[in-house]
Amino acid sequence: MTTTPLSRAIRFTRRVKEIQVSPTLAVLNKTNELIAQGLDIVDFGPGEPDFPTPPSVAAAGKDAIDRGFTKYTSALGTRALREAIANRYNRRYGTAIRAEHVIAGTGGKQELFNLALALVEEGDEVIIPRPYWVSFPDQIQFAGGTPVFADTEAANRFRPVLASIEAVATEKTRGVIINSPCNPTGAVIEESELRKIVEWCVSRGLFLVFDETYEFFVYGGVKHASAIRWFNEYPETIIVVNSMSKTFAMTGWRLGYAVAHPDVIDAAGKIQSHSTSNPSTIAQAAAVDALNGSEDEVKRMYDAYCERRAYLVPALNAIEGIRCAEPDGAFYVFPDVSAFFGRSGIRDSQSFANFLLDGARVAVVPGLAFGADGFIRISYATSMERIREGGERIAQAVANL
Ligand SMILES: Cc1ncc(COP(=O)(O)O)c(C=O)c1O
Repeated sequence: MTTTPLSRAIRFTRRVKEIQVSPTLAVLNKTNELIAQGLDIVDFGPGEPDFPTPPSVAAAGKDAIDRGFTKYTSALGTRALREAIANRYNRRYGTAIRAEHVIAGTGGKQELFNLALALVEEGDEVIIPRPYWVSFPDQIQFAGGTPVFADTEAANRFRPVLASIEAVATEKTRGVIINSPCNPTGAVIEESELRKIVEWCVSRGLFLVFDETYEFFVYGGVKHASAIRWFNEYPETIIVVNSMSKTFAMTGWRLGYAVAHPDVIDAAGKIQSHSTSNPSTIAQAAAVDALNGSEDEVKRMYDAYCERRAYLVPALNAIEGIRCAEPDGAFYVFPDVSAFFGRSGIRDSQSFANFLLDGARVAVVPGLAFGADGFIRISYATSMERIREGGERIAQAVANL
């Protein structure tokens, strides 16, 4: 094959070769294709609320445009927003967080990315409980580090425990990432276990990134335990990442934040100042309104998720071959479908997801994407009517397997 000057020019770095395009994309692309062809697909794929952004929050964004509040801000976010984030934590947890402890960026994802680049060196290992949210391992790898997985048990509702983290720690371990409530399993870490993990990280000089993007969505009397509780005591260890996306149905506004030691904030801010700079000024104005305002709309969304979860978990468990642990949080269920592997050409979660899409016109995300091949993720961020329809379609399709 002749090598043209162009193909010599297209050479990629190790960084980009080592990371994967999200494995969820294959199913998503196929789903969108089928929907575009006019097929009626029940889409359990999306990781975003099906509710609109609360009207008062949207109005604050419109008002920002009308006022001409549309220019660059400080790269780390406006002082008003950083104070609103700090004060919200201080009100709820009695912490003493100040604007200097806060950075706002273009989604929680950007803050996690900044933190990986700021804290992880070539050769460092970062421990991540498995099943994990898709971006954690690739972000660590992109930064030159190695993700190391600490398995969780379905029988323990996938809750992270110190023992499994300790079991995979080495002298190269640089930090731990805990996501609670967890995407994809809905697991909510217990406060006593989180305390142990915090203290273990402190004793070994590790960072603890605590991602509480789904903090508001915890069910059935379970309480959300946040690592922010120990921030006053251990500001050098604890880094909390959060987002407007899920709590306030603001996914497209792209606004997330991190709370950490001011030196960590400065380091993340340096990176941000050379990449995206400030998050959208308009989104920042809307976020201030959301953080300072009433949570009535969020509670309405919460009530809807409660009702859907209460229907969906028993409906799935009533299907022979599906075992679904009751998730304590987020808006996903993560049933075990491995009983179907080996039947009708189904080999793994990917082929099971394809089978559901082709045979039942139901889109789900294969567990493979989250490091757990026996499972699928079903998002219940869709209407009760669609959830009922999707549940019935799955039951009918697998009955023939
Ligand atoms: C666990 C978790 N963390 C972080 C994010 C990032 O959200 P965003 O970038 O929209 O703030 C997501 C989004 O799906 C998530 O599921």
